[in-house]
Amino acid sequence: MTSFPSGFLWGAATAAIQIEGAADLDGKGRSVWDDFCRDHPDRIFEQATPEVACDHYHRWEEDIRWMQQIGLSSYRLSLSWPRLLPQGRGRPNPKGIEFYDRLLDGLVAAGIKPNVTLYHWDLPSALGSWEDPDTVEAYLEFALLAFQKFADRVDYWCTFNEPGWTILNGYVTELHPPAKHDLRAAVQCSHHMMRAHHLARSLYRGPGKVGIAVNLSPIFPATDDPADQQAATTADGVLNRWFLDAVARGKYPEEIVKAYEKRGLLPASLDLPAAPLDFLGVNYYYPHHAVASPAESFFHLNNSGKKDEACKFALAGCFALVADPQAEKTDWNWTIDPGALTTLLERLHADYPELPVMVTENGIGLPDQLIDGAVDDGPRIEFVTRHLRAIHAAIEHGCDVRGYYMWSLMDNFSWINGYKKRYGFLYVDRHTQERTPKKSAEWFAGVAARNGL
Ligand code: BG6
Repeated sequence: MTSFPSGFLWGAATAAIQIEGAADLDGKGRSVWDDFCRDHPDRIFEQATPEVACDHYHRWEEDIRWMQQIGLSSYRLSLSWPRLLPQGRGRPNPKGIEFYDRLLDGLVAAGIKPNVTLYHWDLPSALGSWEDPDTVEAYLEFALLAFQKFADRVDYWCTFNEPGWTILNGYVTELHPPAKHDLRAAVQCSHHMMRAHHLARSLYRGPGKVGIAVNLSPIFPATDDPADQQAATTADGVLNRWFLDAVARGKYPEEIVKAYEKRGLLPASLDLPAAPLDFLGVNYYYPHHAVASPAESFFHLNNSGKKDEACKFALAGCFALVADPQAEKTDWNWTIDPGALTTLLERLHADYPELPVMVTENGIGLPDQLIDGAVDDGPRIEFVTRHLRAIHAAIEHGCDVRGYYMWSLMDNFSWINGYKKRYGFLYVDRHTQERTPKKSAEWFAGVAARNGL
């Protein structure tokens, strides 16, 4: 048997807007994602919205019972900022506080350790955007409120979920709100988020641990050509190291600072009020393969689940990310490469040796179907098994990995993919909201109980 270290956390993750629903209920304010889906329905697969999502706002008790059945020792959720502070700052919404009080009490009573993310992309509409330095101040108000109200029950905090991915899509690919292509604004927003992360860390006085969940994709050169090798190094600096060094070392990588300076992308100050990180959350789905500077920029994400729809990323004058023709892929054309997760964890251990790591997200989107009351998601069991083995290999090589959170507890609103792309241990019926545990749920309960494969 492949055993994991004792105390290893067996978890599943979700995000508020992807599961809660109750979008306009009980005093919740609107978020930029609520507005984006309303204003640009054609950008979302089948014009889906997060209005009802999985109705977790009303079904949280049942959902905690499912978590127990799946054997979770920890659950990663996010707080809806506009549910707690409808205007982004100022007067808190008592009903929002009550909701999270009930949920956290329920988790603690069920013996499930909460891992709470403050910001999982649902910026209150009233705040506008992360370009505005006032948003950093508002975020600190939100963080302080969350710490004051909930720190007695929260074991782990993530200040942000995937700052890199939300900025990349908000300010480069134009796929997420505010759907702009403005590289200067992208760098500015990333700095505001990194400042907000450090400042929130310094505000925290509770008993829990504070980390951040970053999206990390190892980036390999697509060929032996030195130009492609350089492209891979640059892409890694821009997409991975910029954020990693900012949170773990409290400063940005010098060569990327220089590259941004040359292109006139730097904000007036890059000052980071460095505060130590208790753990690094790693969200890993796939690696990238890079080639040298394309002539034109173009971006596309497969959001239909049709295998012939390729994902494309090319940033003129910088690098392009291409698919490895040999690689296995999901229906949404995401590369499946568990070995790259071992590589990634080993690299983190080499670069930031003191930093404990948790895999805060990993999973596979499948077009799961309910047939005769059951969902046989064998490919998910295989995917998770291979990634757990990859984590185990890294642990054997000395990496300090403390837990694994499968994305996701339940099928949910998958952003521009709508609801067809299903990630959950629980199948959610879109009409009745009925939850059905998939085959993977039962399998994972066994893994968690044995603390190994
Ligand atoms: C991560 C996010 O990027 O990947 C999740 O933190 C997200 O919120 C998950 O749902 C899967 O991505 P997608 O776009 O397929 O839903």
